[in-house]
Amino acid sequence: MGVTVLLWGIILFFLGSYLITETWTWGYRGKWTNLNTYIPASICISLHRSIFGPPKELVFSEEQLMRYDGSNPNLPIYVAIDGDVYDVTAGSMWYGLGASYHHFAGKDAARAYVTGCFQDHLTHDLRGLSEKQLKGVDHWKKFYENHHKYFKVGRVLHAPIDEHAPIPPPCKQAVGQKP
Ligand code: HEM
Repeated sequence: MGVTVLLWGIILFFLGSYLITETWTWGYRGKWTNLNTYIPASICISLHRSIFGPPKELVFSEEQLMRYDGSNPNLPIYVAIDGDVYDVTAGSMWYGLGASYHHFAGKDAARAYVTGCFQDHLTHDLRGLSEKQLKGVDHWKKFYENHHKYFKVGRVLHAPIDEHAPIPPPCKQAVGQKP
């Protein structure tokens, strides 16, 4: 009897959530709905793929992406590079609030990855970069793509860059660059 009531309670909880919010968890999406909280990410990904096939890509606006900058512990952390968005929650020690690479979280800062201008070049604007620097952008994309704990979640849509807008000038304190 008790077990039956409990089972019905659970079924109604999820069914009610789906009918009202069109999600199974009352609109909540965060740490506790992330399988990585319970099982290592690599096992989660292969399990998910073998059951459901390749995941559907999410599409973010720049504003939506900003929510995933690590300042809300209930949300995953995303970084974007040249339009591709990656889940780097497993690297919260680098990207979380107050961490050394927090400035990369919640945005597409592709330019800063190759210029080292961690304050002034937090933009996807790649105009004026050298061949070598553009290869550097690809290098970082591959880094996230092939990382055993990070995975791609989708794309961020950028407004087109105004071709008359000035190209971001080089900065003085470029990290990791020869003066
Ligand atoms: C353009 C310059 C640089 C960029 C774009 C960059 C970017 C990054 C990123 C994204 C990570 C996080 C890796 C992850 O997610 O696991 C990282 C880690 C790290 N970076 Fe940098 N970095 C730069 C320069 C430097 C310099 C100059 C140093 C040292 C003087 C440095 C030291 C480190 C260290 C120690 C780690 C941790 C690596 C590990 O143990 O896995 N980085 N870097």
